[in-house]
Amino acid sequence: MNEATEKKKVIFSAVKPTGALTLGSYAGALKNWIAMQNAYECFYCVADMHSITVRLTPADFRKNTIEMLAMYLALGVDPEKCTLFVQSHVPAHAELSWVLNCNTLYGEAKRMTQFKEKSKKDPDNVNVGLFDYPVLMAADILLYQAEFVPVGQDQKQHVELARNIAQRFNGRYSPTFVLPEPVMPEYGAKIYGLQDPLSKMSKSDGNPNDCVYLADDADTIMRKFKAAVTDSGTAIKYDSAAKPGVSNLLTVYSVFSGVAVEKAEKEFEGCGYAEFKKRVGEAVCEFLRPVQSEYRRLLADKAYINSVMKNGAEKASRVARRTLSKVYRKVGFIALE
Ligand code: TRP
Repeated sequence: MNEATEKKKVIFSAVKPTGALTLGSYAGALKNWIAMQNAYECFYCVADMHSITVRLTPADFRKNTIEMLAMYLALGVDPEKCTLFVQSHVPAHAELSWVLNCNTLYGEAKRMTQFKEKSKKDPDNVNVGLFDYPVLMAADILLYQAEFVPVGQDQKQHVELARNIAQRFNGRYSPTFVLPEPVMPEYGAKIYGLQDPLSKMSKSDGNPNDCVYLADDADTIMRKFKAAVTDSGTAIKYDSAAKPGVSNLLTVYSVFSGVAVEKAEKEFEGCGYAEFKKRVGEAVCEFLRPVQSEYRRLLADKAYINSVMKNGAEKASRVARRTLSKVYRKVGFIALE
């Protein structure tokens, strides 16, 4: 077999280190990240540069970045199998994004739904970074010649923009970038709020019982599940339109216990809602117990975390530099001899 056929396909994904990880982050993204490590060449990025489009407290932000990295490792992201790194440690992201800025149309960027929504939400801080955010995202993806980009629905448009920018650059200069494609997580992986099962489980929602964090202690998790809203009737059946609360709890149970939804429905036949909620909570606690003890161990081992970041940055930089120097050459920048 020659090298080309042996080569694994490249995946790029990233998450912003703002706020703690939730059950939804695991189900929607991380679970996939971990599953893909063997079959693909994966670049996983803690997108800290993307976080500062909103105002953050530096100390909290720093803590969040480290905690996110530790949680990834505790859950099973394996730095031996993938390239796990922090975005600001690889300067090529900022460098490529400038060149891409000059190959992105204002009108094209202005059309991004997320920009419009976020501008409306926080009209006092519509900064240029918020506008340019998708172009930095394009740089993230294109630097690694990624073919697939696993993202949630809200990021699909941004990956499509990255593809358009890549196509334009390739046409204007010569083939340089692989054209990336967004891939959505499988059916059932989306987790909704425990208090409001019609909207995504999110930390920003008012009710603190709505959202379960991966780092929550067992008592807190049980309390939140016991308080979860269910639906009228008594059946424990997956039906997202008629029974959003119960369906969401079944999804949670399935993700964290590994039991398929249909099998779980059978398991819970004749079970009351109170008992059902308790058992879902217990499944989550059981899954998280070893993860959290590893998480605490890792957070106490600063030297290890540091070495993961350092090795990740070196591995990522090697690949990113290769793409960036091609780009610099093609646009006509002079290489220093
Ligand atoms: N914007 C993404 C989010 O908010 C995070 C992100 C940054 C990303 N760069 C990326 C996702 C590149 C996919 C590819 O979730």
